[in-house]
Amino acid sequence: MTQNTLLPLRLLLLITLSLSGAAGCGDKEPDAEKYKPTPYQIQVPRFFPTLLNIPSDNPMTVEGIELGRYLFYDGRLSGRTHADSLMSCGSCHRQSRNFEPGIDHPVFQGGMTFGLSGAPTPHAPLPLINLVWNHNGYLWNGLISEDNPDISRRRLEDLVWMGVVAPHEMNGDTNRTKTLIQNTPGYPELFLKAFGSSTVTMENISKAIAQFVRTLISANSRFDKYMRGELQLTQQELNGFILFTTEEGADCFHCHGSSGNPLFTTNLFYNNGKDTEFNDPRDRYAITGNVTDKGAYKATTLRNIALGGPYMHDGRFETLDQVIDFYSHHVQMSPYVNPLMHHVAENGVQLTPVEKAELKAFILSLQDDEFLTNPDLSPPAIFPDGSTYEQVSGRFGNLR
Ligand code: HEC
Ligand code: HEC
Repeated sequence: MTQNTLLPLRLLLLITLSLSGAAGCGDKEPDAEKYKPTPYQIQVPRFFPTLLNIPSDNPMTVEGIELGRYLFYDGRLSGRTHADSLMSCGSCHRQSRNFEPGIDHPVFQGGMTFGLSGAPTPHAPLPLINLVWNHNGYLWNGLISEDNPDISRRRLEDLVWMGVVAPHEMNGDTNRTKTLIQNTPGYPELFLKAFGSSTVTMENISKAIAQFVRTLISANSRFDKYMRGELQLTQQELNGFILFTTEEGADCFHCHGSSGNPLFTTNLFYNNGKDTEFNDPRDRYAITGNVTDKGAYKATTLRNIALGGPYMHDGRFETLDQVIDFYSHHVQMSPYVNPLMHHVAENGVQLTPVEKAELKAFILSLQDDEFLTNPDLSPPAIFPDGSTYEQVSGRFGNLR
């Protein structure tokens, strides 16, 4: 208890210390008076954990987040300017689709992505929400995590350079990206304000984008309002909630959270019984070498999940109904299936059609429309050099 209440204070102290430290160095810059970053404090929503994943060398600031938002949506992050070679984080991670492509994506048909080289991403995309509470690694298999022996593949920040160079994403080169951003009017000034130097570095590009991604917080669904006593759920939604959180019911809560874990994910890795043979070279086993991790992947958050099809790491299910049918009737026994799949001997939780509709209604109550339209998280209309969003997104057009 005491530790919990102390943590935010410690964080604040860290932020203040590292900010003042950085400002000290900046004094040597001729424009040092322009570097007065404003600390940004995340408001932890009610019932959410207070322990945040913010590295001490990248404290959140208003200026850093503003810069990060531009860069997240600027297709010139690919390091090129031709309309066909523009790609940004926002090309795949769309706000209105829970920061996934969505099955209606105009370029990535069916919601499965590929990079500027044409190479498909090895897995289906993941949503970018509530990641500031994720302490267990990023990506479906948790490759990017504090215990990765490679120091350059440990943090949210690292996913930025990786996205720039990956053939299945921007297929670029960090030097080209750095140079292009440096030469785009307006950006150097924003780097100066955010980091104390107008010299654009890949490190500061990554820090700014990571700061923005940490502000993608979804905590205002109908279910959250119900938890805060602001509205009543329908009887159907309430029945679904009970099914979700009981072992004799749909038994989803051990891996996907509940009122006690409002992230609606544990951010842990499980084999949820889809197959009997496992040979994906990028499952959790590939990271840990532990046989019990064969065919295991991150249990995704179920917030806003209706918008994020197709489902599972390989996108095998198109609709939420198919997912519910799978957990009801098609779970497969194997030596690797996680013990928390309690009903595997009966091929699933055997929900009736009425119960399936109730479970789905509950999952839909986790949708947060305010988050999906929040202007602070949307693509900026005008970029630092005066370009419009449409101009910097090239063939990805005016995606929202
Ligand atoms: C070509 C499409 C594409 C682009 C562009 C892209 N991503 Fe992704 N992103 C994906 C896919 C696919 C995954 C899941 C990959 C996996 O785990 O195998 C993913 C996963 C992630 C994750 C992990 C989320 C989690 O829960 O672990 C983060 C964070 C992320 N992307 C951030 C970014 C950022 C920041 C950018 C811009 C620098 C970006 N992405 C650009 C497709 C894309
Ligand atoms: C043993 C842990 C476990 C249990 C129990 C469980 N899940 Fe999952 N769930 C997972 C894992 C792991 C994944 C990702 C698997 C993959 O991608 O191959 C997943 C994926 C999903 C997805 C797709 C998410 C996405 O972004 O593609 C949905 C929807 C889902 N589960 C809903 C449910 C529902 C509803 C229940 C209860 C009927 C349930 N889960 C029970 C572990 C579990």
